[in-house]
Amino acid sequence: MIDSPVHICYLTHENKSGDIFNLESMREALHHRIIYSFLLLVLLFTSCGQAVPALSPSLPSLRSLAQAHGIYIGTTVNVDALQEEGQYRDILAREFNMVTPEVSMKFDATEAERGHYTFAEGDTLVAFAKAHNMQVRGHNLVWYTALPSWLTTRHFFRDELMAILHEHILTEVSHYRGQVNIWDVVNEAINDDGTLRDSIWSRGIGPDYLDLAFRWAHEANPQAQLFYNDYGGEGMSQKSNAIYNLVKGMIQRGVPINGVGLEMHVSLGVYPPPEDVLANMKRLAALGLEVQITEMDVKIQSDSRPIQVRLDAEAQIYRDMLSACLSVKHCTAFVMWGFTDRHSWIPGATGHLDAPLIFDVSYHPKPAFFALMDVLNKELIQKKERASDHP
Ligand code: XIL
Repeated sequence: MIDSPVHICYLTHENKSGDIFNLESMREALHHRIIYSFLLLVLLFTSCGQAVPALSPSLPSLRSLAQAHGIYIGTTVNVDALQEEGQYRDILAREFNMVTPEVSMKFDATEAERGHYTFAEGDTLVAFAKAHNMQVRGHNLVWYTALPSWLTTRHFFRDELMAILHEHILTEVSHYRGQVNIWDVVNEAINDDGTLRDSIWSRGIGPDYLDLAFRWAHEANPQAQLFYNDYGGEGMSQKSNAIYNLVKGMIQRGVPINGVGLEMHVSLGVYPPPEDVLANMKRLAALGLEVQITEMDVKIQSDSRPIQVRLDAEAQIYRDMLSACLSVKHCTAFVMWGFTDRHSWIPGATGHLDAPLIFDVSYHPKPAFFALMDVLNKELIQKKERASDHP
């Protein structure tokens, strides 16, 4: 479906990342970002100058297909790109009906100074979402990182830390009441071995900080859907067992939790078997919880196969994970951590150029985009056939 100029673009991308630039030796994430931006410009001018297919207006949008399934399809949003790039805005509005702020609603972004709140960036995103009839996933209220230095550089007694967190949650959730109705309340609180992650919250308040955070978020907006969100617990593992037990315990204690977010940051070499993801989703659903895939991306850089093989393998992983979501009634959203390789967080985090998302750096749809469209289409046809067989 996608024709050769797009592949040429990727071949050049591969050659450049492999032969000419060695980002491995660079340490600072910021440094990576600057270099990466420069490389992107080089790539744009050198490798993608040919006529490449745009999205055909005759294709249905992902969001229209997702809506027909009753699920949301979403992406994280980089507010700078939203404000600066028309193509970014156009694709975002056309293809998605759910957005997550990439950084704008995190603790350090909203309360950089104690008691002084900044919601301008988040408000920009919320306004865009409202104008385009999109849901917003608020992300996130309690995390071990992205904390302001006033919080991390001095010791607080338990009562004081509880008051700080309570006030932060009340202020932010109340600010967005009626506009943001889904929140990742606690993010990434469990280690890979299933133990509770060490953080200022677990150390300063104790393990009950999770229950408290959910209760406080509910207090601020009783209508909001409240999620526990984590990575590496998508399939069946020690970590996903621990998450399952955590949320089961919360429900038993009457804590207001509505769902679990499965981040799904994976790579061609390391991803959970789709049947395990399905099994995990089903056991969470059996607790009465919703499940959402919240941050999917697929790293393809550390794989030596030809680029087209990698792009097809990437597409297959997207296909499988969306299929898993579509086959569980309680899976209500499929969200990616960005939609264009131009603005993925992966190069900054790993120090390697990569292509983990469904549009390339020049906003052309990749095989992964068409895989998602295909799954949504096929499953719709099958659902209609089943409905007409059993009216
Ligand atoms: C990442 C952002 O993409 C980066 O821009 C930021 O520097 C660090 O955080 N899991 C999460 C997200 O829940 O909030 C993280 O986002 C990616 C991993």
